[in-house]
Amino acid sequence: MRIGVIGTGGIGATLTYKLGTAGHTMRVANTRGPSSMTALASKSGATPVTLDEVGRDVDVLITSIPLGRVPALRPIIDRLPAGVVVADTSNHLPQRDGHLKDIGMSQGVWIEQQLGRPVIRAWNALVQTTLADKGRPPGAPDRLAVPVAGTDPAAKKLVMTLVDDTGFDPVDAGTAEDGWRMQAGTPAYCTDLTADQLQMALDLADPEAARVRREAILAIINSWERNDSFFDDLVALNRATAGLHRLFGGQES
Ligand SMILES: NC(=O)c1ccc[n+]([C@@H]2O[C@H](COP(=O)([O-])OP(=O)(O)OC[C@H]3O[C@@H](n4cnc5c(N)ncnc54)[C@H](OP(=O)(O)O)[C@@H]3O)[C@@H](O)[C@H]2O)c1
Repeated sequence: MRIGVIGTGGIGATLTYKLGTAGHTMRVANTRGPSSMTALASKSGATPVTLDEVGRDVDVLITSIPLGRVPALRPIIDRLPAGVVVADTSNHLPQRDGHLKDIGMSQGVWIEQQLGRPVIRAWNALVQTTLADKGRPPGAPDRLAVPVAGTDPAAKKLVMTLVDDTGFDPVDAGTAEDGWRMQAGTPAYCTDLTADQLQMALDLADPEAARVRREAILAIINSWERNDSFFDDLVALNRATAGLHRLFGGQES
């Protein structure tokens, strides 16, 4: 498949590498231009391009930038042919993105409104170290799962095959409106679950509990140093606050 990626941070660069080494033809762009992506290009086989060029001749465009910047992508999205599937990885972090008064319950719906187009939300509910290090081949007993939400069934199916290519079992998390079930504070969000566990976690999501947990988790991690264990500690905190040891066993630290 021909895939464009916008964003070369922890998630965008890892997706470019994983999908490129899985055999897809990759184009990748960021705000700084092709010269900033030489290392990623040689490692992944991707072609570094400008933001103007990233949507040319692609079947799928993956956007992986801070959610507050998503509206700036509208001119690029407006130029895409109708058949190109758009997938997005972003999450709303108020301390980074600011308060977005019209964000509503589902961030996926907000993203669709900003981009004026159906969007499939994927890879938002795993931390960058899980994406980079914990992918496994299909059928592996310890293979983790990634929720995928979006309203267009064919587009969602296609993005689910790409999730599989990155080493994770894709789990259908419903429509764009249902996507709140895989946002910060829910049991499905960045908790490193297998497919069966993730399905249960999606079903267990409660909007008010998610809101309270999200605020508490943000308050706690804002006091943490960004050291090597940051993302492992974040997954452990998410699992503990969601009470997942009660459901799935194991010690929570
Ligand atoms: N990090 C995680 O563990 C994680 C997990 C799940 C989801 N997410 C979400 O996924 C998204 C990407 O996360 P990240 O950690 O990879 O972000 P990041 O490290 O901050 O990288 C952001 C990337 O977006 C690019 N960018 C910013 N504004 C842009 C614009 N207007 N047009 C084009 N490109 C733009 C930046 O370009 P430059 O490189 O030129 O600055 C950079 O490459 C975020 O919404 C994040 O919340 C992150």
